[in-house]
Amino acid sequence: MNPYLKQYEWSNIGAMLKNNKATPKQESKDFSGNLVVITGATSGIGYETARLYASHGAKLLTINRSLDKSKALKQEIEAEFHVPCDYFIANFSQIKQIQTAANMLASLDQDIAVIIHNAGVYNTKKTFTVDALEECFQVNYLASFIINFRLKEKLRKQEHARILYVNSEGHRFALAGLRLDDLNWERYHYTGLKGYGSSKTAQLLSMFQFANYFLDSGVTINAMHPGDVKTNMGENNGPVYKLFKHFLINPSSKPPVLSAQALYYLGTSKEVEGITGKFFNFTTLEIPAPHALDETAAEKLWKKSVELGELSWT
Ligand SMILES: NC(=O)c1ccc[n+]([C@@H]2O[C@H](COP(=O)([O-])OP(=O)(O)OC[C@H]3O[C@@H](n4cnc5c(N)ncnc54)[C@H](OP(=O)(O)O)[C@@H]3O)[C@@H](O)[C@H]2O)c1
Repeated sequence: MNPYLKQYEWSNIGAMLKNNKATPKQESKDFSGNLVVITGATSGIGYETARLYASHGAKLLTINRSLDKSKALKQEIEAEFHVPCDYFIANFSQIKQIQTAANMLASLDQDIAVIIHNAGVYNTKKTFTVDALEECFQVNYLASFIINFRLKEKLRKQEHARILYVNSEGHRFALAGLRLDDLNWERYHYTGLKGYGSSKTAQLLSMFQFANYFLDSGVTINAMHPGDVKTNMGENNGPVYKLFKHFLINPSSKPPVLSAQALYYLGTSKEVEGITGKFFNFTTLEIPAPHALDETAAEKLWKKSVELGELSWT
């Protein structure tokens, strides 16, 4: 029996369907001189978000896996918007590379105004990283955890910082919650939706823990669903999924610049100041599924993530 079923509020599902159609709020303020860190800025939502922040004067530091795409992005943004767009190469399928990126960020002298955890992957087939972890869990969740964990002291010392997770309504697909005892799907049957949903559930569970950690500081952490937008997400899968995506998903998908506008609003607007530990659908506050609000699971996940990321409190 699914332990979360009786906690389901069907009105929350109704709210989600309504919020999907709501017009997102926008912000147009200048953000000159502020450092913004974006992971996975070489495509889709991350790319549009990098452009939008740069167009408002932000200095960018992007963390990507492709050197060629990072160089092209730097060239494009610096020529068009006249702001620095530095990059750091890290493939989140390797924990060592995530740790190196996290250590680099922690050693920066400059304050980080906004950090956007955007890099993500969707796999229809169970796929493992070089660290022998299911790839969605590592790339979509564990990377953001390791980076936040390594950055937490630096951020606390700052006057302000906003951490944003590009999460997903897809967290709802992990109906039975995060299977902490079977992260590699050896006992339970893997599907793309369950693997992806679990990784986004893990991100939400960790958000509540980090929000508690940052409670009496100037740091906020929030998650958002960026809409159903047309990007390269899922293009790494086989021909059947790609046909499904191109003919059934893409025609109704929105442009990713809408996600970027929501991320600019959530990262800069005064209206969001002090709001922390919340989930937004675009820019509308929403209640996540019950399994993503399970405090016991969140505590266990925190411990497991510290262990997997080879992190320590010292
Ligand atoms: N599109 C949607 O409708 C939708 C809906 C809900 C949530 N989201 C979320 O939005 C975020 C951005 O996705 P998107 O839709 O913009 O897809 P996308 O176009 O495929 O962009 C994904 C980004 O993540 C990077 N990435 C993938 N695997 C990586 C790895 N192992 N290490 C480092 N970077 C990696 C990609 O790098 P490359 O350029 O090198 O491939 C790319 O920059 C994801 O977290 C996704 O779950 C998207």
